[in-house]
Amino acid sequence: MLPTIARQDDTVVMIDQRKLPAREVYVRCRTAPQVARAIRAMVIRGAPAIGVAAAMGIALGMRGSRATGTQKFATEFFKTCELMAATRPTAVNLFWAIERLKRAFAAGAEAGESVDQLKDRLDAEAQAIHDEDVAGCRAMGAFGAEVVPADARILTHCNAGALATAGYGTALGVVRGAVEAGKRVVVFADETRPFLQGARLTAWELVRDGIETTVITDNMAGALMHQGKVNLVIVGADRIAANGDTANKIGTYAVALLARAHQIPFYVAAPRSTIDLGTPDGARIPIEERSAKEVTHLGGAQIVPVGARVWNPAFDVTPHELVSGIITECGVVRPPYAESLRRLFDAAAAATP
Ligand code: MRU
Repeated sequence: MLPTIARQDDTVVMIDQRKLPAREVYVRCRTAPQVARAIRAMVIRGAPAIGVAAAMGIALGMRGSRATGTQKFATEFFKTCELMAATRPTAVNLFWAIERLKRAFAAGAEAGESVDQLKDRLDAEAQAIHDEDVAGCRAMGAFGAEVVPADARILTHCNAGALATAGYGTALGVVRGAVEAGKRVVVFADETRPFLQGARLTAWELVRDGIETTVITDNMAGALMHQGKVNLVIVGADRIAANGDTANKIGTYAVALLARAHQIPFYVAAPRSTIDLGTPDGARIPIEERSAKEVTHLGGAQIVPVGARVWNPAFDVTPHELVSGIITECGVVRPPYAESLRRLFDAAAAATP
């Protein structure tokens, strides 16, 4: 499986997603600020992977703490959490992972643990978030395979694959699950301007797995659908509001509209850590705006004249009406989402002893 991110002794190692597919380079972070910079610069990206990186970064930072008393250690811990929370605003997995570490910390502090015990506890929690993400993606893949036709021609946008998670992927996890279930699957990958996650990362992953992949530029999806070459769309998500409105990579909304116009099912694959019941609808989801340079430059070359203004939102929101279903690690959720998403969490709470 692809090595997206791993803790190795006193470092967090991640594959540099800015360099793929040309070069397979690994970045070794030794401090929490280095991990935070890597998230911001998109060395690692994709909602679940961002959450895992933040958790590992915090645990790494606290492992390196020289504090001897729990009070000083706690102050450092909360400052490190703040640093991570300020990296990228849209993917709710980031805040979910930080909250998990805070809960683990509180449980340890309440039990009167020493600084060394708290460090171990944070390491264990970060590793658990990593491992649960891989298991969740595999479960999502198995559930999602049910909605994949036997002869599937799947369009996807951005990269919701092994690289965007701790491994296996969400949307691409469903592709992998369907292939493992014996279905014939071909994938169309939108190139996904401006960062080219589809062309560079999705295609790289799928080609490595021997899954037939065709890359198209973002403006080709309509023609492709019109010619009947797509029978399913699956994308990932950065944050799903309580009513099912879904923030994902910029361009997803246009793909969803095209899918509806061509009567093609449009599915979102995401773990429960991407579902934010505290945000009532898509209008309340914070949308990150990134540097103009991502748009004005391509491969280091300037392609936009100096003086032109640039708008570069990293995400858009697809209204829940356009979403056929949400594939989670607990099953496929259907409309009306306000009820079905709530039930998903109520069922999990009831199952927790
Ligand atoms: O800006 P990115 O590359 O972090 O955006 C990633 C996406 O939009 C993905 O589709 C989403 O995070 C789901 S990843 C399983």
